[in-house]
Amino acid sequence: MNQDIKSLIAQMTLEEKAALCTGASSWTTTPVERLGIPELTCSDGPHGVRRQANVHEMGAKSLPATCFPTASCVAASWDRDLVSQMGVALAEECIALNVDMLLGPGVNMKRSPLGGRNFEYFSEDPYMAGEMAANFINGIQGKGVGTSLKHFAANNQEFQRFSISAEVDERTLREIYLPAFEKAVKQAQPWSVMCSYNKLNGTFASQHKTLLTDILKDEWGFEGLVVSDWGAVRDRVAALQAGLDWEMPGPQDRRVKAVVEAVRTGKLDEAILDESVRRILRIVFKSQQTPKKGSFDVDGHHALAHKIATESMVLLKNNGILPLQGKHHIAVIGHAAEEAHFQGGGSSHINPTHVAVPFKELQNQAGDAELGYAEGYPADNSFRPEMIDQAVQIARSSDVAILYIALPTFKESEGYDRKDLDLTNQQVALIKAVSAVQPNCVVVLNNGSPVVMSNWIDGVAAVLEAYMMGQAGGAAIADILFGKVNPSGKLTETFPNQLNDTPAFLNWPGNCGVVRHGERLYIGYRYYDTRQVPVLFPFGYGLSYTTFSYSNASLSATSFLDTDGLTVSVNVTNTGKLAGKEIVQVYVHDQFSSLDRPAKELKGFAKVDLQPGETKTVSIPLDFRAFAFYHPEHRQWITEDGGFDILVGASSQDIRASLNVTLKSSLNLPCILDNESTLAEWMADSRGKIVVGPIYNLIETEARKLFGGQDRYGENKSDGDALGMGDIMDMMKDMPLVSVLMFQAGALPMPPEDMVAGLLAQAHSLG
Ligand code: BGC
Repeated sequence: MNQDIKSLIAQMTLEEKAALCTGASSWTTTPVERLGIPELTCSDGPHGVRRQANVHEMGAKSLPATCFPTASCVAASWDRDLVSQMGVALAEECIALNVDMLLGPGVNMKRSPLGGRNFEYFSEDPYMAGEMAANFINGIQGKGVGTSLKHFAANNQEFQRFSISAEVDERTLREIYLPAFEKAVKQAQPWSVMCSYNKLNGTFASQHKTLLTDILKDEWGFEGLVVSDWGAVRDRVAALQAGLDWEMPGPQDRRVKAVVEAVRTGKLDEAILDESVRRILRIVFKSQQTPKKGSFDVDGHHALAHKIATESMVLLKNNGILPLQGKHHIAVIGHAAEEAHFQGGGSSHINPTHVAVPFKELQNQAGDAELGYAEGYPADNSFRPEMIDQAVQIARSSDVAILYIALPTFKESEGYDRKDLDLTNQQVALIKAVSAVQPNCVVVLNNGSPVVMSNWIDGVAAVLEAYMMGQAGGAAIADILFGKVNPSGKLTETFPNQLNDTPAFLNWPGNCGVVRHGERLYIGYRYYDTRQVPVLFPFGYGLSYTTFSYSNASLSATSFLDTDGLTVSVNVTNTGKLAGKEIVQVYVHDQFSSLDRPAKELKGFAKVDLQPGETKTVSIPLDFRAFAFYHPEHRQWITEDGGFDILVGASSQDIRASLNVTLKSSLNLPCILDNESTLAEWMADSRGKIVVGPIYNLIETEARKLFGGQDRYGENKSDGDALGMGDIMDMMKDMPLVSVLMFQAGALPMPPEDMVAGLLAQAHSLG
């Protein structure tokens, strides 16, 4: 096939090649009929197929498809297999709806809970997001349908999303904003990666060669095509040069002409255009191997969406009221009970095949109980006290009140960020008024990202975070409330107490065209745990109707070589009366590091299903990257010799076992000294990896003389004495070869020019 593509490219005219690199319509590539090059059709995702009836048009209602739970919901399942099953089902719908490539998943980090599109993203943690994305992609692509991993990169807000420059230092980029993309690319090879709208450190992502070519294609080995977000390309020629293969949407005659012109005038090397053409053709022909036809299992997929929703919802508070038992009069309150709020606004909006109405689903499972209903709050932002009065009335005369509270789309959607973390004023007043008369008050939340609860949570008996739960979510809520299913979701993002506790608070959403990621690596629990800022609900948290105990936590070794990795094992027992699922999390804490590191970082997890009384051993592998950090001076991922705490937890703040292990680094890195360093500090730091073996030995011999009592000049020096630059220079004078090598290796700061000249002369004279 490579050969065929090569010969096809040779037969294409310059105009045809340029046209192929821009879409023919909103959702299709440009076909070349005379050469038998077909068109590829893509469609929005990520949690459903938004297939326009006419793919050559942008707007218009899409064809019915299953609306699965959105990413923030499905991630809370912590279930790799379930995410992959969702991918398989999405692929089946793509095949039936004649879609070659689904635009998703989105793996941007939830830098702030204010991000308008957080509901489309998996987590505030890059490891978690990467795991979810890789499994999602493998599920879809295993069926021969493509994906588009988006939005690459540092697209963490909606404010000025088309133009803002995200200013992110290299280490933060490598450790926080890129790893989910990296894992997905390396483990699942998405057919395409979608570049984001924003600038990264001053350069549009669509024209960012370091991002699109050097890192994505060359370093990570990405084999697919890079597509622009819709309308993200400013300068088509610059974008091609940076590695942006396919511009969307089309047609864009002016851009095609600009590319042709640039090749003709020599501004653009035709080989660059050919490489993009090759990447696009490879995917176009790959998509042809999966015939698009038939129908999909509408009921089966609805049932899967239902299952995913029940596995993903997170029980945040329960004073024992749930699961509901023996309640004869149930007050059902809230607009969202009648009109399910199950997805977010914007490009991911799906036309569902069916919607489970929460009220009806509750009724189906309520048996003999009588259900009353009050709307409680309006769909718009008006304040309607009479609706609260009505709700209070029915709540007062019931055994329990269930409040369905959905964060309205005018507060959360693609296209704008949230202004605060609050529910609407009416919703807060409603919860307070109802819980004042009814202690058995259960709040069910539908939202894509955390809300604050401090002004009402103490008054209610239970809170279920049902997220944007997909079209079947209404039934999943009923399952959990009545105990048909034991809740097992856990948060993949922190719920803060208040907005001004959040890590990006002082740097959000930026101004004058720039948003500085001043909190650096410290987003989400990395920030809260390191600063010890109290939170409402921590990362990894979620309740169950049963209880679990952890025992016999152990490691496969007490010391290990980084490249060999390590396995953590722990026994988990269901100590309650109901079957349930527990999510075991492994965090790593570096006891000493030459650069600052977060207090803990998630590096592994497993979900385990247990019958009452049952015990299972969970084993979680940790690899090199679980211990490494990105060193901006070495410009690579490094490990350092030393101790680590391996923390086994039920959440980031509920650590059940802490195990100590010693890592031996396999790396032999050049030592990096800054101008303030002294040789003594350097030598005394046994963790500093000193370069270039022979040089190290020579320097060490010299240093031993120094630390031996008297130094080589007859002065008394003890081990603790620091040597100044003067001492080092003095010593170097007698070690010309060593010093020259050291300077050249960049391990020592350059001394004055005349000294270098002198040293070099001596070195030469020594031969
Ligand atoms: C969104 C993408 C989406 C594309 C096509 C853009 O505005 O950012 O996520 O895939 O539109 O609808």
